[in-house]
Amino acid sequence: MKPLFAANWKLQKTPDETRLFLTLLKESKPTQNILIFPPATSWEACAQLLKDSSIKWGAQNVWCLGSGAFTGENSATTLKAMGGTYALVGHSERRKLFGETDALLKDKVTYLQTLDLIPMLCIGETLEERERGQTNLVNRKQLQEALSGADRKKPLVVAYEPVWAIGTGKVATEAQVAEAHADIRAALNEMGFASTPILYGGSVKADNAGPLGQIPNVDGFLIGGASLEVTSLMAIAKA
Ligand code: PGA
Repeated sequence: MKPLFAANWKLQKTPDETRLFLTLLKESKPTQNILIFPPATSWEACAQLLKDSSIKWGAQNVWCLGSGAFTGENSATTLKAMGGTYALVGHSERRKLFGETDALLKDKVTYLQTLDLIPMLCIGETLEERERGQTNLVNRKQLQEALSGADRKKPLVVAYEPVWAIGTGKVATEAQVAEAHADIRAALNEMGFASTPILYGGSVKADNAGPLGQIPNVDGFLIGGASLEVTSLMAIAKA
């Protein structure tokens, strides 16, 4: 499988900044699989500039229903209508800052799949959980709960992001990534999601992407800070 490089911009970039980024990105003619998760205010810019492009885009968050009295939420049916193809589900910032539970994430995964959108389910342990030796336990619980309604025949991506490595500059060691990804692969196999790609995320940069990308069961990266500039995103994709 060709590795996937997914850019999570979080709450960054205006529509104009998005258009500038996408214009530069297209000019660099990437041959890698690139996926952009802009803030919802930049969906329209992505829809316009990536219409006939191999570069994919998606939502950082959508609600588990397409419309209704859900003030402030984003609609997956609108995402689909605009040409977005993926949505992040359960990023640790959504879990921690916005109180998203595994039960809600299950509904989101299920709803996205019914629309033929691809959920990218984010999982990962906190530092305290790692220190208690619960990394694999936490990952498996998050997988089991969020995927309990998922369709095994429809596409799905999992992103392993140790919470303590996100935005901190602290990258998990190669041994830690190898161990976690091997266990996630085993868990997905047991659950019937054998071909699901597993991305690594957490302080990925051009200088650590090469060695991390060589680790078995690492099928690409989910990149935050280093995805905000075309040069650093492409340096990771090329590494
Ligand atoms: P980071 O963010 O690359 O800035 O650590 C990753 C993420 O939150 O997806």
